[in-house]
Amino acid sequence: MAATTTIEDARAQSSAGALGAAPVAGAVPVQTGKDTRGLLSLNDFDRAGRRFLPRMLYGFVAGGAETEAALRGNQASFGSCSLVPRVLVDTSGRSQATTLFGHRYAAPFGIAPMGVTALCAYRGDLALAQAAAAVNIPMVLSASSLIPLEQVWQAGARWFQAYLPGDLPRIAALVDRVADAGFETLVLTVDIPVPANRENNVRNGFSVPLEPTFRLAWDGITHPSWLFGTALRTVLRHGMPHFENMDAGRGPPILARDVVRAVGPRDRLTWEHLAAIRRRWRGSLVVKGILSSSDAALARNAGVDGIIVSNHGGRQLDYAISPLRVLPAIVEQAKGVAVMIDGGVRRGTDVLKALALGAEFVFVGRPFLFAAAIGGDTLVRHAAGLLSQEIDRDMALMGVPDLASLASQHIASSTVSLS
Ligand code: FNR
Repeated sequence: MAATTTIEDARAQSSAGALGAAPVAGAVPVQTGKDTRGLLSLNDFDRAGRRFLPRMLYGFVAGGAETEAALRGNQASFGSCSLVPRVLVDTSGRSQATTLFGHRYAAPFGIAPMGVTALCAYRGDLALAQAAAAVNIPMVLSASSLIPLEQVWQAGARWFQAYLPGDLPRIAALVDRVADAGFETLVLTVDIPVPANRENNVRNGFSVPLEPTFRLAWDGITHPSWLFGTALRTVLRHGMPHFENMDAGRGPPILARDVVRAVGPRDRLTWEHLAAIRRRWRGSLVVKGILSSSDAALARNAGVDGIIVSNHGGRQLDYAISPLRVLPAIVEQAKGVAVMIDGGVRRGTDVLKALALGAEFVFVGRPFLFAAAIGGDTLVRHAAGLLSQEIDRDMALMGVPDLASLASQHIASSTVSLS
């Protein structure tokens, strides 16, 4: 009798699920309400972001370098990788909770570092940090952020990403500031020795420093929700935004002519600087922007705790190989080091593909920034909930009760080169 009831319950649930009436639970709850209508997956945030943001800002966020081959390649790499599910596995107790650097997170993904988010979203870094803390996933605060890192720490951020020049005194001063603020994980991004060639920014009139032009003004006027709700509200309440976290002291305002000079010579940064950072920084140290297995080995030898395999979301070197394609080779070299990946992750299936190929964790960029721009921390939580819900559903469909059981047997070897 009990067995019959269970089967009928299961049937009722599954038919309700098939109609979309009873979505499966993710570890991160999905927000509901009129603001979330139509936002059913991370890709929907791109479309909504395009409507909400001025053209120049949408282009800055969504775009990549030069021909955008690297950007397209990221999504294509996930698209061409096929999954091999196992069946008749009891996954009823499945969990996506993931431990990284001693912290138990609700899900195996976090928010990638993104610069000047407070131009796109009102108090963007705070919205992202609050949402991430609320749902227990990591958010990485960018060096190019416009809110002092100490305030973003108060809002819950524990990971800080640095852009550093090859200049030891400046490195030491910033590392000490980040440590004093209480951050636990330092991410050094190493794929930006020079600024990228992003032609869409030039075409749309977006530059750093921002040049006040008629075109820029028109772009703002035609996007009044952003103009009043983000731009003017920011300037009226908090003054002209500055680059707050490039160095130990406050950086120049976004309209300053000397912004680029203030950044310093990043093309002098070398493995020796990384070794110096390792000696000074006591928390977890992560290098972001590794694509070569030889560099993964050097990073491991330098004593880092983690590597983020990344081509910067296709925003730096065009034609840079997609992280997913080099992941297996890097995992092999990085023994003992946590391997993470970002670039083009939009679906629960993308997350499972990356984990099956050896990643411990993934990061997602653009969709979270669009979410923060349109609806602040509520929509960021909604975006995280959607991805978490997909992961949960996909784990059951793949026959994996926990993420540790994902392995290369779950990937069709004809679709990806497994080392
Ligand atoms: C970035 N990214 C980035 N990375 C970094 O290390 N420091 C930074 O300041 C920024 N800034 C930044 C701004 C914007 C608007 C975007 C979209 C991206 C790259 C980011 O951390 C990540 O590598 C990619 O965004 C991942 O790709 P997806 O998920 O956006 O496809």
